[in-house]
Amino acid sequence: MTRNEILLAGKEFLFPAVFHYFEEPLVIEKGQDQYVWDADGNQFLDFFGGIVTVSVGHCNETVTKAIHDQVDKLVHVSTLYPTEPQVALAKRIAEISPGGELTKSFFTNSGSEANETAIALARIHTGNSDIIALRHSYHGRTESTRSMTGNSHWRTPLPAQSGFVHAHNAYCYRCPFGLEYPSCEVRCATDVKELIETTTSGAVAGMIAEPIQGIGGFVTPPKEYFEIVSKIVREHGGIIISDEVQTGWGRTGKWFGMDHYGVTPDVMTFAKGLGNGMPIGATTARPEIADSMQYLTLSTFGGNPVATAAAKAVIDFVEDQNLLANCEEVGAYLRAGLEELQQRYPVIGDVRGMGLMQALELVEDRETKEPAPGRTKALLEAARKNGLLIGAGGLYGNAIRISPPMNIAKSDVDEFLRLLDASLAGV
Ligand SMILES: Cc1ncc(COP(=O)(O)O)c(C=O)c1O
Repeated sequence: MTRNEILLAGKEFLFPAVFHYFEEPLVIEKGQDQYVWDADGNQFLDFFGGIVTVSVGHCNETVTKAIHDQVDKLVHVSTLYPTEPQVALAKRIAEISPGGELTKSFFTNSGSEANETAIALARIHTGNSDIIALRHSYHGRTESTRSMTGNSHWRTPLPAQSGFVHAHNAYCYRCPFGLEYPSCEVRCATDVKELIETTTSGAVAGMIAEPIQGIGGFVTPPKEYFEIVSKIVREHGGIIISDEVQTGWGRTGKWFGMDHYGVTPDVMTFAKGLGNGMPIGATTARPEIADSMQYLTLSTFGGNPVATAAAKAVIDFVEDQNLLANCEEVGAYLRAGLEELQQRYPVIGDVRGMGLMQALELVEDRETKEPAPGRTKALLEAARKNGLLIGAGGLYGNAIRISPPMNIAKSDVDEFLRLLDASLAGV
């Protein structure tokens, strides 16, 4: 099919709710490492990695080989039969889970399913029903995960499920209490106590949070935040669920985003980067929590041999190539480059993130912090023209998300900064 035939067929045969980036959608034909090519043969430096999903490069040779080997052997049996790739991945995750304490996994196909499983676990294990989520969060597109999501753009007019309350966000650039860190004494965290006392029965099933909010625009809580909230939540009977769908597997410079906060969660959820683009979701829990799920369950495609073989190859690759250190080092280099751009472009109000998960928040005016969604869109378009792919996000549509493959080098960052600089000059 030609590019136009693909676009026309998409309009005719796909749900219109599936939106695309750009005025003229970009039809991508192939990818290799940090680059993708469109149907006309144009090359793009992909610094968004799908949607924070291509963790070790497009069509990574090692991961692709693991996929090929497994495809030739066995593609499907369902969870009715144990297979080596599934248990090998579960064992690997247990080995690197924080403190080796989260040792049991359940595999599905997406982050939404992983989060569904996590909240079911929290409710069954504690006997309580209320779940605390964060404003500005995104947790998925199923009924429950949409109800947990704290962003109106991703909540439909359909009624939300009950059993979710939304805490104020640790969004220092736009503090919901109008305070300044650190003199605020992390009020957003201590406020969770009153939230529980006023909007729930007083006993909660748990709290779900992204250590760094993905679709929310890489909002990065201060270092004390999760220690304070987890203490409050646990005192009220709940468990801590870390949604690591975007922050997992080394991107922030540690295996898991929550590792930066000195808190060991009770459950973690994964998708995206775990499979480097292969569909996989995982819910990993402390054994006593996993063991409390006693009813029958299955997932037809969950734990699929090909997806789990790919995921294990991703984890092994991250370890073999020492990508945690790479994310920290190249991430710091990227961050310095972004801060230098901030000094030259007043439209960049905030730079935030960790490792190779960095965001810019664009504003019309640094004093008023008026969000600049129009200029954000224009920047995406300008970057595309310059051969660079970046992501958008944030409740106000004014965040630029930067999440390249974790195995890039400083020279890739140099190329990125040059292209971003040229693109910023036009907006
Ligand atoms: C933090 C987070 N959790 C969950 C999800 C849902 O994952 P999926 O789209 O695979 O269902 C996403 C998707 O963007 C996400 O960013």
